[in-house]
Amino acid sequence: MEKKHIIRLVAMGVVVLALAALLGGFTGGGSLMYHLKNRGDLGPLTREDIAYLNVEAPAATSKDGTVNAQDWAAVYPYITMTMGDNAKNSYVTDYLEEDPYLVNIYEGYGFAKDYGSARGHEYTLADVHKTQRPHPKANCLTCKTPNFAKLVNDQGVGVYSMPFEEVEALMEENISCYTCHANEAGNGGALVVTHSYVNKALGDNVNAIDPATLSCGQCHIEYHFTREDSETMMPYHSVEEMTPEAILAYYDAIDFYDWEQEATGTKMLKAQHPEMETFLQGKHAALLNCADCHMPMEMADDGTVYHSHTLVSPLESETLLQNCATCHGDTDMVKVVRGIQERVTKRETEVGNKLSDFKDALADAVASGSRSETELERLRRLHREAQWYFDYCYVENSEGAHNSELSMRCLDTSEQKIDEAMELLAM
Ligand code: HEC
Ligand code: HEC
Ligand code: HEC
Ligand code: HEC
Repeated sequence: MEKKHIIRLVAMGVVVLALAALLGGFTGGGSLMYHLKNRGDLGPLTREDIAYLNVEAPAATSKDGTVNAQDWAAVYPYITMTMGDNAKNSYVTDYLEEDPYLVNIYEGYGFAKDYGSARGHEYTLADVHKTQRPHPKANCLTCKTPNFAKLVNDQGVGVYSMPFEEVEALMEENISCYTCHANEAGNGGALVVTHSYVNKALGDNVNAIDPATLSCGQCHIEYHFTREDSETMMPYHSVEEMTPEAILAYYDAIDFYDWEQEATGTKMLKAQHPEMETFLQGKHAALLNCADCHMPMEMADDGTVYHSHTLVSPLESETLLQNCATCHGDTDMVKVVRGIQERVTKRETEVGNKLSDFKDALADAVASGSRSETELERLRRLHREAQWYFDYCYVENSEGAHNSELSMRCLDTSEQKIDEAMELLAM
């Protein structure tokens, strides 16, 4: 494996408790009182309650040598079982039906034909197989299965541009143990980056990111496919560059666009799902990792303490809500987050519809031939940017929960660009 990156887990329980004491006051106080009442003297489960195992990896039964979930089941029954429970998250929202303006703004691109919400990790191969969006190359398998990561690690980046069907036939598992642990899960549950582009893009700067965030950040990120060899690649080299402004500048510098829209002639960008970037610019970045809010710690009847590998919304888990309480006290966090999401979603609808009207006005201007090429270029520039900022917020799956300031800033910036362009069009 190229530049294999093994990172040992650090127990954070002490840190969280210290922070709880520090932050006790900011939501009205009483937070420590709250959790002591709830959990007795022990407080919530922490990583210190886990008995980390050091065992040899079982023999791999997969053809490519990845130790799969079934292979690990005897060693880690609860983790394997809870990972399988991601199948329970099977609900899909049709975004195109919910927000009809999307069909217009994505015109000419695959997302205008088929765009449903994500569901659990157990569906990745089935979903990539049946999407109506075109996927000629194998690079679409990057974030779906450990077998693809293994193939790249074994054979190099040439794999990305192989025909989709040919490589799909070799894939055996949905996202699984190897994705986040390589074959090292027996090594105290070590987290390993198996997606080689992460190390390539970030170099030594990977060390600035908590392993339990980076683990998810192998996929829950903005990316593009390189022109040279269609390799999946992150558009930055450090955490500081993980902002919509810096990423836009990165794409501009390499003259990158996802598609040229026919009606407007704009060279468009399609944002993906910048969860890690959005989270890392937010208020929790230095305090928490993805696992803290999406993988509740549980205790089995036999006393085994482990991270549930069913990735849930913290708002739907009593255990995770108790973690919030260690800092937020008895504030109703479900209400706070739903309030943020409502505001963000309302703004998305407003700005999305304005963007759709602007796209129509620009298409008319192009069709009428009444504008100079210089004027059109200026308008297309504003169009590219307005859509980028809108999309960066729209496609981020937390709807503002990870970083409400950033989500709102993106929508405001998008609207400013639209207004500027509409003024030009009115002249
Ligand atoms: C190998 C790539 C990959 C990694 C690593 C990964 N995810 Fe995912 N995740 C996906 C994909 C792809 C989907 C969408 C699956 C589908 O709809 O078929 C998804 C879906 C999800 C969903 C469900 C979203 C919804 O709207 O229901 C959650 C929650 C989630 N991931 C959280 C996480 C967390 C937390 C981590 C880290 C512990 C993580 N993921 C690591 C690729 C990944
Ligand atoms: C402070 C807690 C917190 C942290 C840390 C956090 N999230 Fe979230 N995340 C949330 C909340 C709250 C939601 C909204 C859940 C809802 O709408 O029910 C959410 C939603 C999501 C969703 C949409 C799926 C869903 O269940 O609605 C994904 C995917 C996701 N987060 C991934 C990540 C990833 C990846 C990281 C790390 C880079 C991360 N989260 C870090 C709190 C957190
Ligand atoms: C999407 C990424 C992901 C996948 C897939 C995954 N893990 Fe984990 N695993 C994590 C994260 C994140 C942690 C928590 C690390 C932390 O913050 O302490 C973890 C923790 C662990 C631990 C340490 C003990 C604990 O409960 O914290 C073990 C052991 C482990 N995983 C085994 C497995 C096995 C076996 C599989 C396959 C059945 C698997 N994991 C699949 C991300 C993953
Ligand atoms: C380790 C302490 C800690 C934990 C645990 C914690 N938070 Fe926070 N949270 C903070 C701090 C600090 C802020 C920033 C407060 C401020 O600036 O006013 C914050 C801010 C927030 C905000 C506002 C951020 C924004 O972008 O608008 C939300 C929403 C939030 N937390 C939700 C949660 C949820 C939900 C959980 C549990 C799943 C949680 N927090 C757990 C410390 C924590």
